[in-house]
Amino acid sequence: MGSTLYPVIWKDDRVVLIDQTRIPEAFETVEVTSSDAMATAIKTMIVRGAPAIGVAAAFGLCLGGSEIQTTDRAGFLSELAVIAEKLRQTRPTAVNLFWAIDRMMTTVTATEGDGLALRSVLLTTAQKISDDDVATCRAIGDHGVSALPASPAKIRLLTHCNAGALATAGYGTALGVVRSAWRDGRLERVYADETRPRLQGAKLTAWECVQENIPVTVITDNMAAHCMKLGMIDAVVVGADRIAANGDAANKIGTYSVALVAKAHNIPFFVAAPLSTIDFSLKDGSLIPIEERDPTEIYSVGNARLVTEGAEFYNPAFDVTPAHLIAGIITEFGVFAPDRIEAELAHRQ
Ligand code: MRU
Repeated sequence: MGSTLYPVIWKDDRVVLIDQTRIPEAFETVEVTSSDAMATAIKTMIVRGAPAIGVAAAFGLCLGGSEIQTTDRAGFLSELAVIAEKLRQTRPTAVNLFWAIDRMMTTVTATEGDGLALRSVLLTTAQKISDDDVATCRAIGDHGVSALPASPAKIRLLTHCNAGALATAGYGTALGVVRSAWRDGRLERVYADETRPRLQGAKLTAWECVQENIPVTVITDNMAAHCMKLGMIDAVVVGADRIAANGDAANKIGTYSVALVAKAHNIPFFVAAPLSTIDFSLKDGSLIPIEERDPTEIYSVGNARLVTEGAEFYNPAFDVTPAHLIAGIITEFGVFAPDRIEAELAHRQ
């Protein structure tokens, strides 16, 4: 049981993406046939979510490999490095993007042979990154269920943004926990914050849950504290875009507020993320680069402008939840206190 949604798939000589800017109005796919088009798809959030953009960038490098004319090894590698740099420039916060590109480049550089051999190793490596991510998410889901409070028997979980199948290669991280809890009869209902300004909770999380008949209630972001006060939430589980060595976790803007109100109500707040989301090179969350996006995301809904001309805007796409607010980090290797991740996991990366 579980999701059969795969947002990034390699098919023949191209990548098929589920267009996440169209859900829930329409379920459409986009065929990506060049590394430029993949960079645009990542920037414009046709594909989004930390592990998903890592997988997309890996396949983007495969497309890039096919664009390179020379089969001379040195020439091939130097052109590939330029394409890798272009993909790196797409979005700054989710470390999975850089992790996947680095893994691709390290593997290809360590492979002998001419451009044709390197092209083929690019594809097998990208496919492995994708397959591994699905298996990783399933493991996260299962470990997550074991971390949930023992009572009540059926839990009401709150989540923020979308950390589902659409945000990964499949199954999801935070929604992986939801899926596994639902499968095991431990879930009563999911509360999904709508997640202003891009509405990933309202548009994507709710849609994913409804596809699988998982009971979901959408609330606006400013309702979470009220719901907690009324005793409607037993635990919170969110994804992450980058986790620093000390356990501080960057995730979609608004996550930090949810963690604060969860602490105030004594509700456990979990972060679910694969090892590839942990950046051990950063000692704490203050060093995580936070993407700022276009103000139109704040002031417009569809074609309507909500805010008067003359106002100014600030639109950070992510915030950092300090480690002390996090009850546990749910990974494919188990659930760890934030201050234990470096000791327990750094050697595995
Ligand atoms: O800007 P987005 O939509 O790419 O941000 C996505 C999130 O913040 C997710 O919650 C995070 O990447 C975890 S995805 C498993």
